[in-house]
Amino acid sequence: MTVAAGFPISLVLAGRPVLVVGGGRVAAAKARQLVEAGAQVTMVAPRFCAEAEELTVRRVPRTYRHGDLDGCWLVVTAVDDAEVTAAVAADAEAARVFCNAADRPEHCSATLMALHRRGEVTVAVSTNGRSPAAAGWLRDRLAGALDARTDRVVRAAAAARDRLRVRRSSEGLPWRALLDEVAAIDDDAEASSLVDRFVSAATAPTAPIAPTAPVGRVKLVGAGPGDPDLLTVAAVAALRWADVVVHDALVGDEIFRSIPAGTELIDVGKRPGRPVPQETIGALLVQLARSGRRVVRLKGGDPYVFGRGGEEALALGAAGVDYDVVPGVSAALAAPAAAGVPVTHRGVAAAVTVITGHRARELAAVDWAAAARLGGTLVVLMGVTERAAIAEALQAGGLNAATPVAVVERAGRPDQRVARARLDELGVIDVVAPATIVIGAVASLDLRSPGGPRPRLDGRTPLEPDAGTAALR
Ligand SMILES: C[S@@+](CC[C@H](N)C(=O)[O-])C[C@H]1O[C@@H](n2cnc3c(N)ncnc32)[C@H](O)[C@@H]1O
Repeated sequence: MTVAAGFPISLVLAGRPVLVVGGGRVAAAKARQLVEAGAQVTMVAPRFCAEAEELTVRRVPRTYRHGDLDGCWLVVTAVDDAEVTAAVAADAEAARVFCNAADRPEHCSATLMALHRRGEVTVAVSTNGRSPAAAGWLRDRLAGALDARTDRVVRAAAAARDRLRVRRSSEGLPWRALLDEVAAIDDDAEASSLVDRFVSAATAPTAPIAPTAPVGRVKLVGAGPGDPDLLTVAAVAALRWADVVVHDALVGDEIFRSIPAGTELIDVGKRPGRPVPQETIGALLVQLARSGRRVVRLKGGDPYVFGRGGEEALALGAAGVDYDVVPGVSAALAAPAAAGVPVTHRGVAAAVTVITGHRARELAAVDWAAAARLGGTLVVLMGVTERAAIAEALQAGGLNAATPVAVVERAGRPDQRVARARLDELGVIDVVAPATIVIGAVASLDLRSPGGPRPRLDGRTPLEPDAGTAALR
């Protein structure tokens, strides 16, 4: 008989007698867990392995007998002998003692779960006794999600609950909102003040079940280049916390899957023919925050790398709105990496310079001649339209026409494309925005796979020492 879907429960075994039948390593491992839970463990087996000998248990060196489980709350068997297992299970059933039999689901009235403990939190995974290996694998994956942030959430919830014990019930309180807020911050003091606000709102005589006071707040969050795996843990927490997300056009479609259903989305993406003035965005953020909303301003890459995040932070600060910044993985680094290009490489590129190519010809905001002299690697964002002018300006500044160039389009997205060329070909190759342009000796590398192609430039090894400087005329 396979055990039907079990009812998970955490037994308080401290001081309670528990029997373990078996003296091998599996029995010892189970006995160890029971000892750690505080149980008074008796092991019955003709022989005990070294691990079993080390445990603080009572050892009875003989085979199992009827009556051994008298007075026990639980019995665990881990023996090869099917008859002994069946006898233990039958006795347990008759005595109404729960029985776990290793590798014998038909004799189990209780299954043990794969456990991970961190502080007050226990992750327990069951596959209903079908596969301890799968349960352990899943347990490890879930355990990886526990960190200092989850510790803070548990501490805050426990603190709030302790303080609210005077109330008959804490049901109906907006726990979820409190915990989302705590999860999205990085600071114990801030967590305590959120708990204070929650408790005062919950105990206020006039508004006993009011949610946390509307404290509009904005998080300027970097979404990375588009691959959801490159969202930071803090960004994911912020997206769960938000009730409205104000986003750019450059935020990848896949990222939206990390936003819970029900969160309002406002698209303020600046697209050709549909510019959204920066002041309008700033004013919108202020207005949303002032109405008590939890606002995420989601931007591609990093908010402070050509993302105008600084201007939005200033607008919020000027309006007295609280904000945090969650940095993101900038396309300036992620796009080259996605093409197998290390932006610095010992002996090849000792510096990396990130430059805007926006309106390069018109504004001359960048001293391209100086950039040409820097050696190292140049990473140009927003340079697709002006790429021919940029290539010309760099050559005019002294950069060799044959300097390798890699252009990474839609980095990290399913339709990513990489083009490689020489600097003097940059203006004529086919490129569609958004793309990041990498210029310098490293751009001829492709380190995506160990045996992968190693593009070479004019027969020269791209790893020639000082290739960046040597590329200068
Ligand atoms: C307005 S800037 C914003 C940069 C962004 N804040 C960051 O840190 O990545 C936009 C430029 O970033 C680059 N970019 C953004 N996402 C990209 C992607 N997925 N692939 C390649 N380049 C990208 C392009 O050069 C694009 O023109």
